[in-house]
Amino acid sequence: VVDMAAEGGSREDRWTLAGATALVTGGSKGIGYAIVEELAGFGARVHACSRNAAELEQCRRRWEEKGLHVTVSACDVSVRADREGLMSTVRQTFNGKLDILVNNAGQLLVKPTVECTADEYSKVMATNLESSFHLCQLARPLLVHAGGGSIINMSSIGGSIGFVGSAIYAITKGAMNQLTRSLAAEWAPNKIRVNGVAPGFITTDMIKDVRI
Ligand SMILES: NC(=O)c1ccc[n+]([C@@H]2O[C@H](COP(=O)([O-])OP(=O)(O)OC[C@H]3O[C@@H](n4cnc5c(N)ncnc54)[C@H](OP(=O)(O)O)[C@@H]3O)[C@@H](O)[C@H]2O)c1
Repeated sequence: VVDMAAEGGSREDRWTLAGATALVTGGSKGIGYAIVEELAGFGARVHACSRNAAELEQCRRRWEEKGLHVTVSACDVSVRADREGLMSTVRQTFNGKLDILVNNAGQLLVKPTVECTADEYSKVMATNLESSFHLCQLARPLLVHAGGGSIINMSSIGGSIGFVGSAIYAITKGAMNQLTRSLAAEWAPNKIRVNGVAPGFITTDMIKDVRI
């Protein structure tokens, strides 16, 4: 990030991410979509993924029309091989360097705990928590190659307070908070900052049918 004001720029263009590269998971909708637009709007080159290739391509065209530099590829972050394929694509797209990783893709499950199946437990864990852990591991060499960087883990208010009927989701977000703290300490010597964002309720597809 360059401080334009310090270099004589106007207040409006004080910050820029020109030259930076970013990966945003779950970039086709909701919070992730907004993050892609914001990062690209500040000049970063962004790679976005989600599971729906057709929807991603529609997003890419919209971003292209706005003059934003965004590439896309389909990836189910709950699948280990998909995550490896995603990071391989990112490595090629950005010549081995990544400045920003946003672990945003997530799945909410609202259901009484006694009705949750073993498959649902595994799926939500893999989508929210395991994917974040593994993508941090995979991104590390690219972040180090960039001279350091920033990881943002999309947590939730549900990761620190109790809500009825979302225990598995809450477990994943609480654990993501601890992942964030652990890596922030462990990777600080490599100039990799690790932070979490814990939103309250934001009207997206994820919560449109949820009754609290
Ligand atoms: N909305 C809220 O109130 C709220 C509050 C706190 C935290 N959050 C967190 O914020 C993040 C984004 O939520 P949102 O509200 O923006 O949700 P959303 O509107 O449902 O968007 C989720 C995005 O993630 C993608 N995605 C879901 N599962 C995926 C998978 N397995 N692999 C790859 N991509 C996947 C979706 O695309 P596809 O379905 O096409 O794959 C979509 O692009 C989540 O981690 C969520 O837990 C949201």
